[in-house]
Amino acid sequence: MAYTVIFQPSGRRGEVKAGTTLLEAAQQLGVGLESACGGAGTCGKCKLRIESGFFPKLGITSTPAHLTPPTEEEKQKLEARELQDDYRLACRARVEGDVLVYVPEKSRVAPQVILETGRERAFRLDPAVRKYYLELSPPTLRDPRDDCERLRDGLRAQYGLGGELKIDYAALLSLPEALRRENWKVTVTVWMDREIIAVEPGRKELAYGVAVDVGTTTLAAYLCDLGRGVTVGRKSAMNPQVRYGEDILSRVGYAASRPSGLEEMQNAVVQAVNGLIREMVAEAGISSEEVLDIVLVGNTVMHHILCGLDPRFVGQAPFAPVVKGPLDLRARDLGIEIAPGAKAHLLPLEAAFVGADNVAVLLAEEPYRQEDEIWLIIDIGTNGEVVLGNRRRLLCTSCATGPALEGAQIRFGMRAAPGAIEKVRIDSHTLEVGYKVIGREEWYPEIGHTGARGICGSGIVDAVAEMFRAGVLLPDGRINRRLATSRIRQGEDGQPEFVLAWAPETALGQDITVTQKDVRAVQLAKAALYVGARFLMQKLGVDKVDRIVLAGAFGTYLDRERALMIGMIPDCEPERIVAVGNAAGDGAQIALFDRSKRTEAVQVAQQVEFVETAAEPDFQKHFLAAMAFPHARDAFPHARRMLGLPVLTGDLAGRAGS
Ligand code: FES
Repeated sequence: MAYTVIFQPSGRRGEVKAGTTLLEAAQQLGVGLESACGGAGTCGKCKLRIESGFFPKLGITSTPAHLTPPTEEEKQKLEARELQDDYRLACRARVEGDVLVYVPEKSRVAPQVILETGRERAFRLDPAVRKYYLELSPPTLRDPRDDCERLRDGLRAQYGLGGELKIDYAALLSLPEALRRENWKVTVTVWMDREIIAVEPGRKELAYGVAVDVGTTTLAAYLCDLGRGVTVGRKSAMNPQVRYGEDILSRVGYAASRPSGLEEMQNAVVQAVNGLIREMVAEAGISSEEVLDIVLVGNTVMHHILCGLDPRFVGQAPFAPVVKGPLDLRARDLGIEIAPGAKAHLLPLEAAFVGADNVAVLLAEEPYRQEDEIWLIIDIGTNGEVVLGNRRRLLCTSCATGPALEGAQIRFGMRAAPGAIEKVRIDSHTLEVGYKVIGREEWYPEIGHTGARGICGSGIVDAVAEMFRAGVLLPDGRINRRLATSRIRQGEDGQPEFVLAWAPETALGQDITVTQKDVRAVQLAKAALYVGARFLMQKLGVDKVDRIVLAGAFGTYLDRERALMIGMIPDCEPERIVAVGNAAGDGAQIALFDRSKRTEAVQVAQQVEFVETAAEPDFQKHFLAAMAFPHARDAFPHARRMLGLPVLTGDLAGRAGS
């Protein structure tokens, strides 16, 4: 004897022999069901709901009585309420008649996809928005149901989407026309199985989403194909709020000092995000209305300004944000121009300035799955964020790095763009300089005219590290005026400076120099990062880390050995330092592709303990020691070996590590 089994919402149907379990039926019909225990009845992951009644469209009468009665295992694994609502374990329930089965979200196995960022990051493809194609019957005098009810009934009957589905106002406005344009054939987009957010005439399969990392200085946006799980477009731009202040505190100050300050800044960033979306959809040949979901991440201040939330109280102790949890807002309420009914999801914040961007970094890197290794994740931006730990405990802090590492506040600083000096080498004997600019393969002096226009963030770190290695900089950061070279001279401010590139080599027609002030800005930034990391290590009770992850676009280009030489990161074997690019952008994309990551983000944000390092006793003392190259007290054996300096041993090293 064979019976019909239909699985919803996929609509897969087929005939199975009497006595087949629903898990076997699902496997035969290609329906992915969670079954961690392999069907032993012990994991409780394979829960399904049995529908009751006659379903004319599907031509089936389904009832829980068409299955064998619940077993002992089911009575243990299912809650009383679930048993009452006709939930069953697929691996225990055997078919004895026709059944219509609804597979809840949690029991579905979604396909695995891999984010293309150069690093393999596998996740389930299970976006928050899903499209359903419906063929409905038109209203008649005998069936005068309203359009909305007709749509909901169709979703229930054809895809088992139960419960009271809400409908967005914009979707409601488009409903009558959408239903009638193609003779009652429509594609409905449902958000989180809870709300109808778009209704389009005919069959529409493509769904897109956008992920945006709203950085203090840079915006990075990604256009994602939610059906295939691939990123199809990328764009970045300066955050236009830079004109209101370079760092987060000056943005908070601007919002506080003018009645329209917050609105101006919100408007500026939203318009920039819209611009990036417009460029990406134009290149992909789609319309912005086809973008049905957006995930945005940013530090606490960027998050607040983007949402139009008053950031003033984030800027003063005890640094309380307006809201810490995740937000699902209407994209249109924020002024974001995508599908009119689309939601904008903002990942949760951690604490103080450590915001949703750091949560996104954690989603991408998953230190919370690390069993034994201790990971140190440093997201280098205008505001640096540091996370330390593993599955057992995670600590985080933020460091006011300043914009020096992004090429700002440096006399010849510029963004990482063609013409920026990105790599530097200095001969310790002759003090002659070799350097490479972005956009050219050859190094100076291999090519005489380099067209250099300035120095980018990784270039300034390289330059400072090489100046120290070659003896141009003393351990306290002063430029050594005693060296006999024309490259060291007195600058306009009366302070010494070092000539990196002579005027004829450059596109500026003037020498490009590293000034004493530039060196100080790098020292401040590197000391802030190092002290942050070191305090977290102290709190966790470790004196070394197993892996250092450098996140942020800057981290990608940073020469890890030179970062170590100047003591920007704790001493570690250089092979154990990895650069992962814009992990915050990757995490935002992952949350776009896999809705379960949004729940995971909430758990992670709650798990991470925030440490206010600036409030630690002796902060100033530690900071001053960290200003020196590589450090005034800590041992730095790997860095010292690379610098050709004697490695501190015995008492000295013991004191250095304290
Ligand atoms: Fe584990 Fe059914 S597969 S309980």
